[in-house]
Amino acid sequence: MVEERAEPRHVRAASPTRAVPLMDVPLDQERRFSSGLSALDALLGGGLVPGSLVLVGGEPGIGKSTLVTQAAMRVAAEAPVLYVSAEESPKQLKMRVERLGEAPAHLLVTSENIVEAVSPLLADVRLAIVDSIQTVRSEALETASGSVGQVRECAAMLQRLAKETDTATFLVGHVTKEGAIAGPRVLEHLVDVVLYFEGEPSGAYRVLRAVKNRFGATDEVALFEMGESGLRHVENPSSALLAERVAGAPGSAVAPVMEGTRCLLAEVQALCTPSFLNNPRRVVTGIDFNRMTILLAVMEKRLGLRMGAQDVFVNVAGGLRVVEPAADLPALLAAASSLNSQGLPADLVAFGEVGLGGEIRSVAHADRRLKEAAGLGFQTAVIAKSQAVSDDAGAQLIRARDVGEAVAAMPASAR
Ligand code: TYD
Ligand code: MG
Repeated sequence: MVEERAEPRHVRAASPTRAVPLMDVPLDQERRFSSGLSALDALLGGGLVPGSLVLVGGEPGIGKSTLVTQAAMRVAAEAPVLYVSAEESPKQLKMRVERLGEAPAHLLVTSENIVEAVSPLLADVRLAIVDSIQTVRSEALETASGSVGQVRECAAMLQRLAKETDTATFLVGHVTKEGAIAGPRVLEHLVDVVLYFEGEPSGAYRVLRAVKNRFGATDEVALFEMGESGLRHVENPSSALLAERVAGAPGSAVAPVMEGTRCLLAEVQALCTPSFLNNPRRVVTGIDFNRMTILLAVMEKRLGLRMGAQDVFVNVAGGLRVVEPAADLPALLAAASSLNSQGLPADLVAFGEVGLGGEIRSVAHADRRLKEAAGLGFQTAVIAKSQAVSDDAGAQLIRARDVGEAVAAMPASAR
């Protein structure tokens, strides 16, 4: 065997790398400044960090521009803010600003979409907004704006600029259906904070979620309501979401669902009507379509209900999107309740995952769900037989092994 001799590594003589005592590293904590929206500050972990890059993603029309404009206006009351409005004209921005309040003194706008041209403007502002990252481009690349390469290049350049100039920067990114242009996901690793806006754009409520945060906790959420003059933070999400509910109406079930570390009470609505179509209609908003299809199949097979002859419409009130399996049971109970035209008890909540065999499985955070429900006067809960509960918050628990038992426990004619 030939013995290999390791070459000595090159040592850079000019500027040797130096290590500094960890104790001397300054923390950015006290340098944070308020975005002007306390709910947003809380999601960010206590305000904006100078020099940080914050991605705000979401579907078109969900309210990204509105959110960042509201923050821009508040910050611009005191310090210069630059709004790079590459997507909308300055006039459109002004119209939105006027809708949201009084135009602040220090809000600067440009519709320049070449990042190299924008960069000198970043030096003297406290906050910059790039709306959107898919409509700006770098001269370094030949490709069109919105391509993966452009989106990456521009974000990387803005990241460097933000750090150099100590300017906090919001990047707005459209989450698009797969295909044509690059979504914000390709940027997640590059930015410091990722916030996603979720919900049905047609509904009033939106959930803002922190999915990455180099400076704070993730998995936190805030509920906002889109109104005539912008987004308003909803302090009491559960009572807001249930405000317009007709208690005890057929087809309505209340689901305690986890959003990050907190629990919200959402109303799942179902409407089942005899179908005259070969392919009965299935219209599902707020819940995963495939999940609902499975639940209907379980009802057909395990409960002997002829769901295949029904048009089924499912909706989560307020435009909320529920992705948790814990919403299986309330969704199924809502559908059964509508089918039988018999309302569920007004003080009832339900949570549990429904398996293909019709069995009900336990889910995490039972105590928190029961507590949230009890806080709004819901005293009865349908849960899995196996569900571990350490603090039942005084609720009357209906434990069901499978969907048959759960439906059988409902008022007589709901069966
Ligand atoms: P927008 O913030 O432009 O969405 P995005 O930037 O995510 O595409 O706003 C979306 C919708 O919100 C738009 O249809 C208009 C509506 N809207 C209100 O209802 N109230 C308001 O005060 C504002 C500014 C917008
Ligand atoms: Mg927009």
